Amino acid sequence: MIEVGTPATEPHSGTMRAAGALDEVVSDNGREVAATLKRVSVAFVDPKTKRSKFVLQNFDFECGRGEFVVLVGRSGCGKTTVLNILSGLLTPTSGSVEVLGKSPREARRQIGYMFARDALMPWRRAGKNVELPLERDGVDPGERQRRAEEMLARLGLEGKSSLYPWQLSQGMRQRVALARTWVSGPELLLMDEPFAALDAQTKIEARAEFLKIWEERRRSVVFVTHDLGEALLLGDRIVMLATGGKELVNLKVPFQHPRDVSELPFTKEFRELEHDLSQKLV
Ligand SMILES: Nc1ncnc2c1ncn2[C@@H]1O[C@H](COP(=O)(O)OP(=O)(O)OP(=O)(O)O)[C@@H](O)[C@H]1O
Ligand SMILES: [Mg+2]
Repeated sequence: MIEVGTPATEPHSGTMRAAGALDEVVSDNGREVAATLKRVSVAFVDPKTKRSKFVLQNFDFECGRGEFVVLVGRSGCGKTTVLNILSGLLTPTSGSVEVLGKSPREARRQIGYMFARDALMPWRRAGKNVELPLERDGVDPGERQRRAEEMLARLGLEGKSSLYPWQLSQGMRQRVALARTWVSGPELLLMDEPFAALDAQTKIEARAEFLKIWEERRRSVVFVTHDLGEALLLGDRIVMLATGGKELVNLKVPFQHPRDVSELPFTKEFRELEHDLSQKLV
């Protein structure tokens, strides 16, 4: 566990809980955790006023082992900041962070981070992009290639490994990025709006493919989206944030895995929960 800095001076006034259908707040006591943030604060200096501005203040968060947690909230509330802290890209101003029992930096080989934009390297072929985390881990070239091609095929991209990113559609590029995220078998996946830029149909397919792999592997996931339907479709738990990382909702999603992604969104319970969540989004 890393402890950094001194505690923030202005703790927020506690956790607001949702009412009605969203009352099922999970108790996290005594379970195995993949990632924990305790009283984490992040402050940036505002270039205009030159004063510190808190993005997160005494923020607590937990993702259980094998749990699929979805973070939602309005633009600018700090979702990407949370992922950056968990990945070790950003060191908080204060508070403690633990990922798989270590500091995020120590755990980095066990973390897969997928950005909203596919972020593929344009000079590398699709297969070589997927191989990147395996190169980092020192896997030998033949094995790297085999695993990359297997993962691409799994995501419907059989025979595409020799194409460059610019020769692929956006949906295909995003699936290459998905293959790269999964290929090394990370214990914790951090996913920042991975399907946001896709058209409606491709999004449905990519989500279904992702969920299928997740349901087989059950790795811990912290997933950010603006789409409440997507949050309900995929997640075990939904955490809704307001500005400053204030937790508005902490909902245990009542649907069991594996889920039928084509039927579930049309059920009454799903629609009601989606409606309730949208009412909480401030
Ligand atoms: N490096 C930085 N320097 C200064 N301010 C920053 C920095 N990174 C983030 N911020 C600020 O922190 C706040 C939260 O940013 P963050 O990217 O976490 O929001 P978000 O919830 O992911 O938003 P979105 O839904 O639009 O992606 C924003 O006000 C942003 O301007
Ligand atoms: Mg963001």
